[in-house]
Amino acid sequence: MPTPQELLEALRQVKYPGFSRDIVAFGMVKDIAVGGAGVTVQLAPSTDNPDIIAQIRRGVVEVLGPLVQVPVEVVIQRPAAAGIRPHPEVPGVRYVVAVASGKGGVGKSTVAVNLALALNAIGQRVGVLDADVYGPSIPLMLGIEERPRSTEEKRLIPVSRYGLKVISMGLLIPEGHAVVWRGPMVDKLLTEFIKNVEWGELDVLVVDLPPGTGDAQLTMVQKAPLSGGIIVTTPQDVALLDVRRGIKMFEEVHVPVLGVIENMSYHICRRCGHRAEIFSHGGGARMAEQFGIPFLGEIPLLQEICTGGDHGSPFVLAHPEHPQSRALIAVAEKVIARLEEQERRRLTLH
Ligand SMILES: Nc1ncnc2c1ncn2[C@@H]1O[C@H](COP(=O)(O)OP(=O)(O)O)[C@@H](O)[C@H]1O
Ligand SMILES: [Mg+2]
Repeated sequence: MPTPQELLEALRQVKYPGFSRDIVAFGMVKDIAVGGAGVTVQLAPSTDNPDIIAQIRRGVVEVLGPLVQVPVEVVIQRPAAAGIRPHPEVPGVRYVVAVASGKGGVGKSTVAVNLALALNAIGQRVGVLDADVYGPSIPLMLGIEERPRSTEEKRLIPVSRYGLKVISMGLLIPEGHAVVWRGPMVDKLLTEFIKNVEWGELDVLVVDLPPGTGDAQLTMVQKAPLSGGIIVTTPQDVALLDVRRGIKMFEEVHVPVLGVIENMSYHICRRCGHRAEIFSHGGGARMAEQFGIPFLGEIPLLQEICTGGDHGSPFVLAHPEHPQSRALIAVAEKVIARLEEQERRRLTLH
């Protein structure tokens, strides 16, 4: 009879449905008991989706059955109720909101920065955590060159800029140095950053995630104390397919999706104000409706948004009276309303 350790190794062949990672790497195998009459595997999947659980269960039996030649019992430990997470375990921080996108270049960081400033404009105390380890762009967008200092206890002190408290990987690595991140470092990074930074008192901590919704992003958000996720997309069909994956990623880890923002939705001509629909816009709204998640708003392609980002002077600050800035403030209000609604629901359910 193989040992539990050998069986655990064998279980690495069971992939988590939809991801290239296996259930062992995801930390779902909690116990393997080997007895003469049978083998019992305790699994704690992060989802309560019955299809996914059934697939994992089948995978385990298929892999272990031939090895042990006794019945294999799979016991599923129930995850915490869907959609309900403990209050972020970060002292002083009320809500932690992650901004995700299916791929790079859709304006995720632009949205994260302008949303943070819009939240600040409506009176929230806001922090920004640039967790895009592969392409941290928040310092450039906010025009930050200063390096964060640390306390005697080696906790990082965020850099203050435009009323926001900011920490970015880009501020910690010397310029021009590429960092090769090993999987386990990336896994822990988000949680470490959320917990080991002196955020002080914050209403909202906005997290700019690395682009994509694959294994790296999933493992990052899996353990982090997130209150909600926002998905940024562009209107093209391909991007909308990515939204599905984004929603799935948050659902897998029980992070409520606060909504979808469609960026570069249409183009407004600077000279004549003509509005051109470059891609058939409105897909974000349709997609949100189809998935039963809120549509938070659409942001046009605007030259001022692009130049502002490149020059460290974000749009919402540089053009506070612009209708689009006001639209972003409306998005910020929706985000807060959603977070509060969720909080009320959590309190009444407990
Ligand atoms: N609504 C917009 N209008 C004009 N330019 C935009 C808009 N949103 C993003 N951009 C520009 O597109 C580029 C990519 O945006 P960025 O926020 O860095 O994307 P991501 O973080 O998704 O990779 C940047 O140069 C940015 O200034
Ligand atoms: Mg970015």
